[in-house]
Amino acid sequence: MNILVLNGSPKGKNGITVQTAYYLQKRRADFFCYPVYTFLVPYQLQRFIELMKANNADTKGKVASQISTSKHFYDVTAHKFIEENGYDMQLRYICGLSADMDELLTQKGQNDAKCYFDEMIFKIQNGIFLYKEPAKACEKRVYEKTLTAAEKSDAKDIAIVTSCAVQDINLRNMIDDFKAVLPYNAREINLTQFPFAGGCLGCMECAVSGKCCHNDILFTMRQMSGVNYIEEL
Ligand SMILES: Cc1cc2nc3c(=O)[nH]c(=O)nc-3n(C[C@H](O)[C@H](O)[C@H](O)COP(=O)(O)O)c2cc1C
Repeated sequence: MNILVLNGSPKGKNGITVQTAYYLQKRRADFFCYPVYTFLVPYQLQRFIELMKANNADTKGKVASQISTSKHFYDVTAHKFIEENGYDMQLRYICGLSADMDELLTQKGQNDAKCYFDEMIFKIQNGIFLYKEPAKACEKRVYEKTLTAAEKSDAKDIAIVTSCAVQDINLRNMIDDFKAVLPYNAREINLTQFPFAGGCLGCMECAVSGKCCHNDILFTMRQMSGVNYIEEL
């Protein structure tokens, strides 16, 4: 039996989560794993899943499970995210292991990891999986623009922050309607055009300085908005 490990930690081989996989690998297996970052899986793994879906990755019928480490703060949300995405991709799912970040150093943590692994192998050998039919596509409805433009003033500086995709006609029309009735001129900042240098690396620089270690943020915000005061943030 081959098991693929998708290591979703930006810390790569030095991550805490992957140590659980290495630990279990000693028992001749490989694993899927990630740390919980800000209530969810790290962005790099989210993007990887998005690309798998966009490219119709051949996952139908394969078995998936997950290992995370965290402080158990919204780890449930992250596990549900992986589980539901798995169903979307027609994977058969086995409930994962959510370990505390220090747990592997304890006898109990090591036993929990071994029990999880043994149970997973048992379930694979006996065909015990969770599975859900992918959600059916619902009827597409288009929001039509209906509102008449109000008179505008520059008395306030309003920025509309959006992640509206080019093909998202509904959101486009809603934003246009909102801008129409707004009595002020508004700037629009579309995050989809924002050239992010990368996802969170977990370096915790922001905890100390309040700023991200990627320099793209200030540079690009300034370029997109043309407003210099963002530099002060
Ligand atoms: C930026 C950042 C965000 C985090 N967010 C959460 C969180 O929302 N919930 C939680 O329980 N732990 C959170 N943690 C703790 C990590 O999940 C934990 O340290 C994990 O073991 C790191 O694993 P890794 O070394 O494989 O990256 C966060 C850590 C970082 C660096």
